[in-house]
Amino acid sequence: MTTATVSPAVQNTAAAVSAARAGELAAVAGRPLSAVTGAEIQAPLIQGGHIRYANLDYGASAPALSVVSAYLNEILPYYASVHRGAGYASQISTSVYENARNIVRDFVGGRPDDSVIFTRNTTDSLNLLAGCLPHRDGQPTGDVLYLDIEHHANLLPWQGVPHRSVVAAPTITGTIAALRAELQQGQVSLLAVTGASNVTGEILPIRALAALAHEYGARIVVDAAQLAPHRRINISADDIDYLAFSGHKLYAPFGAGVLVGRTDWLDAGTPHLAGGGAVREAKLDGVSWATGPARHEGGSPNVLGAATLARATQVIASLDQERWHAHEAAIRSYLVAGLQKIDGVTVHQIFSDTDPGTGTIGVVNFSVAGYDAGLVAAYLSAEHGVGLRDGRFCAHPLLKRLGLPSGSLRASFGVGSRLEDAERLLAGLEQLRRTGLGWDYVVDSGRWVPANDTRTYPHWAPNTPGTAGAAPCLDD
Ligand SMILES: Cc1ncc(COP(=O)(O)O)c(C=O)c1O
Repeated sequence: MTTATVSPAVQNTAAAVSAARAGELAAVAGRPLSAVTGAEIQAPLIQGGHIRYANLDYGASAPALSVVSAYLNEILPYYASVHRGAGYASQISTSVYENARNIVRDFVGGRPDDSVIFTRNTTDSLNLLAGCLPHRDGQPTGDVLYLDIEHHANLLPWQGVPHRSVVAAPTITGTIAALRAELQQGQVSLLAVTGASNVTGEILPIRALAALAHEYGARIVVDAAQLAPHRRINISADDIDYLAFSGHKLYAPFGAGVLVGRTDWLDAGTPHLAGGGAVREAKLDGVSWATGPARHEGGSPNVLGAATLARATQVIASLDQERWHAHEAAIRSYLVAGLQKIDGVTVHQIFSDTDPGTGTIGVVNFSVAGYDAGLVAAYLSAEHGVGLRDGRFCAHPLLKRLGLPSGSLRASFGVGSRLEDAERLLAGLEQLRRTGLGWDYVVDSGRWVPANDTRTYPHWAPNTPGTAGAAPCLDD
């Protein structure tokens, strides 16, 4: 295996900032903040050789924290049924699973009587809540209100219940005013809003939005899939009624998500998964449903997913917040400044009043004039070993409104990232601008892939690169 060295363009990029600034950036973000599993994997390059994989796709799924991987190995020997056995391992598994609720509740600053329900992911959590909206005399008591900037997970579950949507204004201030105007119309039961845009990384003011919803008698659910891996959230302090997030974006990619929030709606709502564990008593022709988390957690729960999610929250909670934010902000500001210097590259954002320092998470959205986003992503992967996301990010209404109906590119990063990841991306784009593509690319199953690709995956991943399948949410 040969290892490609970082191209000279990287040094050029580094030279684009002053030596003092480069030193400052390197001190803050030259290294990962926390160790993650797989940080040194080598990606095969289309023209031969290997290079360290620069993972700029944390926003889709983040790698496991090394602490979390170690914890998984530690508890795995004790894995057994949860809530169903008197045996030693079952008792331990049950204890770990139930304790995970307390850890997650603490992590989000939950109220003592909040429910903590383990789900598959954020999508599952929001669908669960959609089944628990309040009714009076068999009729929903109000509409769900949401913005057009939402990920489909916080858009589609509400389309099955009475709902209204609001087009976000060009500013956050204007968007709050637009939501207020809609709330003033009355009959809103729930405001569903993202904590941070998965498309642009811009943060929404959830405390102010909670106060706004409550002023008009509505509750608020925050889709924290993107926010939770980047900012501490305190639902008691911010008066958030419901919060949903996913383990796989929070450095615990073992299949669990969570919904935390007020118990009354959840205990009165339709059980999310009818089956074993969700009942007090079942008869041949009837059932008395359980209350509490069990009501919605039918079937054998994902104990390892919940346990590792909880362990990841402990690691994130232990980070020095100043260093954490400085690390991420350094990579982001360096990347944005570098992108803005490259001819034909446009960085996208939704709101003109977003504070570039404190109002964003480690997500940057951009496009390259003259190139399809999917082609740029394929090029960066094949020729530079850089992984990022292209497409419409499961946010079709927003991409359409931003004038990007065929998609754009998204670089996203987190605690396992380092400045060099951003440098590698910038170097690849600069080379694209200077010399164009270094290989032929074709469209295969809806995705751009290198032509005549002879690279192989490890033996346990049988597809050859480029034929792994089209990305969901990419097609029209
Ligand atoms: C803001 C946001 N909400 C919801 C989701 C859905 O998360 P999951 O796929 O874990 O259900 C995502 C995933 O990208 C997201 O970014």
